[in-house]
Amino acid sequence: MTNLLTAHQIHQACELWRHHETVAVPTETVYGLAADATSDQGVASIFHMKGRPQFNPLIVHVATLEKALEIAVFSPLALQYAAAFWPGPLTLVLPRTPQSPLSHLVSAGLDTVAIRIPAHPMTQQLLQAYENPIAAPSANRSNDISPTSAADVYSSLGKKVPLILDGGSCSIGLESTIIDLTEDVPVVLRPGGLCIEELKALMGSIMEHEQQTSSTVLKAPIFKAPGMMKRHYAPQRPLRLRAERPYPGEAFLAFGPHHPYADLNLSTTGCVREAAASLFRMMRQLDAPPFTGIAVSPIPMTGLGVAINDRLTRAATPADISS
Ligand code: TXA
Ligand code: MG
Repeated sequence: MTNLLTAHQIHQACELWRHHETVAVPTETVYGLAADATSDQGVASIFHMKGRPQFNPLIVHVATLEKALEIAVFSPLALQYAAAFWPGPLTLVLPRTPQSPLSHLVSAGLDTVAIRIPAHPMTQQLLQAYENPIAAPSANRSNDISPTSAADVYSSLGKKVPLILDGGSCSIGLESTIIDLTEDVPVVLRPGGLCIEELKALMGSIMEHEQQTSSTVLKAPIFKAPGMMKRHYAPQRPLRLRAERPYPGEAFLAFGPHHPYADLNLSTTGCVREAAASLFRMMRQLDAPPFTGIAVSPIPMTGLGVAINDRLTRAATPADISS
């Protein structure tokens, strides 16, 4: 699979955005359903296609820091995060600039904006070619498992998307880590593709400088991101966590070596990064007949394991207590 788009594909995508349409694009985290972030109509069609509640704001994607500075107010700390981790799987929540051209629908009426610079070469090509920032949530129906391939996008949103660009499998496979920098203390709103250890290794002195930070980071007050519902990323079948072996009828999604009952294994070597990249794909594969449920091995809370456990816990939450 080539890692670059043709001039024709770039032209097609930009023309669709100019006409307030959506395009599904690969990123290094998951596929995004993308539209012009300054277009009320474009953004509204993202909400409509996903069946997403409008109180749940979207992430805005730009090619460069210069572009980011036009739409968000960066504190010195925010600039350090950007320098350390962009392009990459990190989203920063920052105040909107007063003159921001972004549609208010993007922020669901909040005075903040979630913004990131993706690293995927195809997304970079598109963002560099297009004149405006691009809003893109994951390209799945609201509450479904996020797509990590073009085929996943097609199976979740079908023919409704005018153009699905195929960039192969996403290398990270989990959504970006979201950090809120609008308060005195940085707060992780969603664990994701950039692991907390990596953040701490580089930003440690700053985070520890703030008294409450280390506990705040690990306890991740996930309710602050309006979209962090208790039930999310969910397969149709019930999920049972920390399972040693499957019950009759269940599929077994294993992790680590020595799993004779495994239907699929997230990583036979016990590597959480490999598990992250396979998680959504394997959940989709096992969410099918003849299985009646999915049992999942325990996953350690190290590195991307934090984000994997976050997604699994939400996916295992019964529908009637979702928010
Ligand atoms: O990796 C990713 O982040 C992918 C790719 C496509 O970039 N995008 C993604 O978007 O996961 P989405 O819409 O599925 O998740 C966006 C999350 C939601 O939980 C939303 O509530 C939160 O970001 N969010 C967006 N704007 C926010 C804001 N201003 N304040 C707090 N949370 C915000
Ligand atoms: Mg999503």
